[in-house]
Amino acid sequence: MYEKLFSLEGKKAVVTGGNGYLGSVLSRAMADFGANVAVADLETREQEHERMISIACDVSDTGSIRKLYQETAERFGGIDVLINCATYGAGYGPLGTVERMSDEDWHKGLDGAAGTVFRATREVIPYMERAGGGSIVNFGSMYGIVSPDPSIYGDSGANNPANYGAGKAAVIQFTRYCAAHLAAKGIRVNSVTPGPFPNPRVQQNDAFLQQLGKKTMLGRAGTAEEIAGAVVFLASGASSYMTGSNIVVDGGWTAW
Ligand SMILES: NC(=O)c1ccc[n+]([C@@H]2O[C@H](COP(=O)([O-])OP(=O)(O)OC[C@H]3O[C@@H](n4cnc5c(N)ncnc54)[C@H](O)[C@@H]3O)[C@@H](O)[C@H]2O)c1
Repeated sequence: MYEKLFSLEGKKAVVTGGNGYLGSVLSRAMADFGANVAVADLETREQEHERMISIACDVSDTGSIRKLYQETAERFGGIDVLINCATYGAGYGPLGTVERMSDEDWHKGLDGAAGTVFRATREVIPYMERAGGGSIVNFGSMYGIVSPDPSIYGDSGANNPANYGAGKAAVIQFTRYCAAHLAAKGIRVNSVTPGPFPNPRVQQNDAFLQQLGKKTMLGRAGTAEEIAGAVVFLASGASSYMTGSNIVVDGGWTAW
């Protein structure tokens, strides 16, 4: 009776940052649950699933986002799901401390986290209105809720600059604002807040990975597959009574 509760059959989805560590896995999961998925990223990539297409898009550029949506709507017949996963930053490394960060890096980091979500949301609204509603899922971060603990970063080179978390906090709040203001159009807006999901191809510092694990209740970092369930849930009818919510998937990092 409830076998189709999480079904995405007939959904027409766009995933920004869909080539990324988390974006590629959740795009595939959504296609497996029945959605047509436009994987949007800076470069196109061959897709292995028949319901997935790849479209080049730069989410720093409104014109590029408009082209992405036009092409998606032409290929799929509309858009009713948007996953805002793309992000870009500035100020990583020794110049990322509050004392040293430039105005330029500050603005770029905020824009990479929150400006991306704002532009992609603004431009998708007419498509979702035409579809009679939709679901938008924004990617926050645990660092939009709590501060990075500087003591765990050591020489990992992964120090997290102040503009990232400030931008992600904005994403979580912007999610609530949009939920309130788009509900009348049938558009639900929620966020997913990942905890530590280090990409094994990028982060191989064992000492640092152990420190990350210790900060969680479950004692380990997450793997990309472990974010997909929350996204499929929020995109699907299973979450039809949810809007303005934030699902935290962090192994317990922010709960103690
Ligand atoms: N991995 C984690 O530990 C973690 C933790 C908290 C939050 N997050 C959030 O989850 C989301 C996905 O993270 P990830 O680990 O998969 O990151 P990732 O770096 O692997 O993927 C990000 C993707 O965004 C794309 N991108 C960058 N600039 C772009 C632009 N201008 N236009 C279009 N695409 C662009 C990149 O090419 C990349 O494919 C991000 O919003 C990130 O902030 C991740």
